[in-house]
Amino acid sequence: MQTVRVDLADRSYTVFIGTGILGSGHPAFDIPRGSTALIVSNEKVAPLYLESLEASLAGVEVHNLVLPDGESFKTLENWAQIIDRLVEIRATRDATVFTLGGGVIGDMGGFAAASYMRGIDFVQVPTSLLAQVDASVGGKTGFNHPLGKNLIGAFHQPTAVLIDIDTLDTLPGREFSAGLAEVIKIAAVRDADFLDWLEENRHAIASREPELVIELIRRSIANKAEIVAEDERESGVRALLNFGHSFAHAIETLTDYRLYLHGEAVAIGMMVATRLSEIRGLCKTGFSDRLGKLMTSFGLPLHIPEDLEPSSIIETMKLDKKVIAGSARLILVKAAGHGFIDSSSDKLQVAAAITASQKQT
Ligand SMILES: NC(=O)c1ccc[n+]([C@@H]2O[C@H](COP(=O)([O-])OP(=O)(O)OC[C@H]3O[C@@H](n4cnc5c(N)ncnc54)[C@H](O)[C@@H]3O)[C@@H](O)[C@H]2O)c1
Ligand SMILES: [Zn+2]
Repeated sequence: MQTVRVDLADRSYTVFIGTGILGSGHPAFDIPRGSTALIVSNEKVAPLYLESLEASLAGVEVHNLVLPDGESFKTLENWAQIIDRLVEIRATRDATVFTLGGGVIGDMGGFAAASYMRGIDFVQVPTSLLAQVDASVGGKTGFNHPLGKNLIGAFHQPTAVLIDIDTLDTLPGREFSAGLAEVIKIAAVRDADFLDWLEENRHAIASREPELVIELIRRSIANKAEIVAEDERESGVRALLNFGHSFAHAIETLTDYRLYLHGEAVAIGMMVATRLSEIRGLCKTGFSDRLGKLMTSFGLPLHIPEDLEPSSIIETMKLDKKVIAGSARLILVKAAGHGFIDSSSDKLQVAAAITASQKQT
């Protein structure tokens, strides 16, 4: 069992990473006796793991709510469903919400916990690789609005994060690779040694060797925990975690969230951001090829579909929350492990990087 501490004064918590956690009597499942737990999950994950999680919570009054599966259900209607369920089970302020699923369930259950009675405890039990390496840590919770992704939300830190990598046994390959894109993201902007390690171990990682999977989750979270401890509310360095994301969100929007998984769009977005860094002479040529090779070995896409116009991508990026005061705020890279925030790219440079990412090289 590996642990990572997220250091946030009275909101600090521990992330536990290992095998055989679900169904066990792990101390992190200990919530005050006599209190109530609500497990929020979805129709895909609940049949697989709900029973084990319930077994771990023996002695506690446990309820569950199983929502439909998918990003399209990350809606305020489902926020109301969770709140209704909490009211129905007469949850009081000492109740705990457990989120069992991918990032969608984690974000929804977390925000419901943040908003119910002005905030109750929640424990993340992430089951997708993306949620295990990224979404479950850091306290960003929320829902989508018809006009924008994650427009409704709150910072609300979990009280623990329990990562049982056995759950990955049922995760489809494409979802696993999408999670690896977020791992590469954090290595690319902040941890050059980790990027080397990912390259050296790429075959064993792709075949999901448990020890390597635990290590890659631990290193991703250790990096994220440091960033979050420094900048919980994203007024500075936490923005590095958005590497590739402004482009990714535009691509996701323009393809109606149908063509790519989020992590796949992030892979493409990182290629565009890296090419932009190269075009502007801020990063040595060759880093985009290096990232591209690693991502290809995990089956991730690298190219923007040819029918997406650079101008429509740029236009769509303006609606992105990460654009501050009109100038595109992008995360660029200087070298492996060195991302930085930049607001000085002009439209022509951005368009050139997009066009370069459309060509099959
Ligand atoms: N809060 C944050 O900091 C943060 C960070 C990154 C992403 N996110 C959010 O996370 C969401 C994306 O997360 P995701 O990629 O996990 O998507 P997801 O929650 O939709 O999960 C992907 C798919 O895998 C299924 N699944 C999950 N675990 C499984 C398992 N063990 N076996 C079989 N199937 C399983 C899910 O039911 C779903 O169909 C987005 O809504 C994004 O906004 C949040
Ligand atoms: Zn992401």
